[in-house]
Amino acid sequence: MAYPRIAPDRLLIEATPAGLRRWSQARRRAGETIGLVPTMGALHDGHLNLVTEIGKVVDRVVVSIFVNPTQFGPNEDYTRYPRSEAEDLAKLSSLGVDVAYMPTPADMYPNGFVTEISVGGPLTQGLDAVARPGHFTGVATVVSKLLIQAMPDVAAFGEKDYQQLQIIRRMVTDLNLPIEIMPVSTWRDAHGLALSSRNAYLTAEQITVARQLNKILARAAERLRAGVSGTIACEGATRALLKAGFSSVDYVAFCDPDSLAPLETFDGRGRILAAARLDKTRLIDNMAV
Ligand code: PAJ
Repeated sequence: MAYPRIAPDRLLIEATPAGLRRWSQARRRAGETIGLVPTMGALHDGHLNLVTEIGKVVDRVVVSIFVNPTQFGPNEDYTRYPRSEAEDLAKLSSLGVDVAYMPTPADMYPNGFVTEISVGGPLTQGLDAVARPGHFTGVATVVSKLLIQAMPDVAAFGEKDYQQLQIIRRMVTDLNLPIEIMPVSTWRDAHGLALSSRNAYLTAEQITVARQLNKILARAAERLRAGVSGTIACEGATRALLKAGFSSVDYVAFCDPDSLAPLETFDGRGRILAAARLDKTRLIDNMAV
């Protein structure tokens, strides 16, 4: 697909792996550093903050926009995932981004595609992996492809998707990729709700409920710091989420911030993570304890 160059002096739209690689090689030969922000589009202030943060440490910024089919389960929202290309490009252009990389599924997954990157071990066994089997293999595969295609010095990922961030760190270490992974803290609205493209599915009434998620996690974190056990604090938070109006709770978990192994007592570090549903919409959030 051919995209127009909407800001000829700056934002370049690349649609193919070969085109991006040519650009990237030229920048590297010129001695410039490159930052990559992988996204699935429907860009909000959380995404844009990743762009701003990475822009502080590199010469050139690439933002990929690719709704990756392989990380959605059969009953998930791939076909109805929000898409807003024109608005996304205008936002990237106004931030001075150098390249919007928008490959098609056919470019990313050539005919006969069978190669996957699968991160094993405890990081991919619990939390979101339970309700979303195969999700993190889809993520690890597409992120490794994006990293290989863009060859950045730095790639930014949000703490909003904390398990994803840890899995990508593990993968980059395990594959000896010479790329620094830059974590960026979660961007929230004035009520503490973590911004997410999926918030667009919520009714006004559901947003009021969604805004309780961060507050309930913060309260559980306080209890953990005060010595309440992981089991008791997480059970209390689960009950509070249901009482607040969530339809169901996939998990509330208190974990080691690196391995994501479950913790029972707080001894200075830990992360509390949760996934809960409002009707068909699944929301996640997490915070340091
Ligand atoms: P997407 O959900 O579009 O998110 C792209 C990046 O933005 C991820 O690193 C995510 O953690 C970050 N992000 C989203 N909302 C955020 C918020 N409120 N605060 C801070 N960061 C936030 O995550 C994906 O896409 C995909 O799985 C991807 C990595 C692109 C692979 O397809």
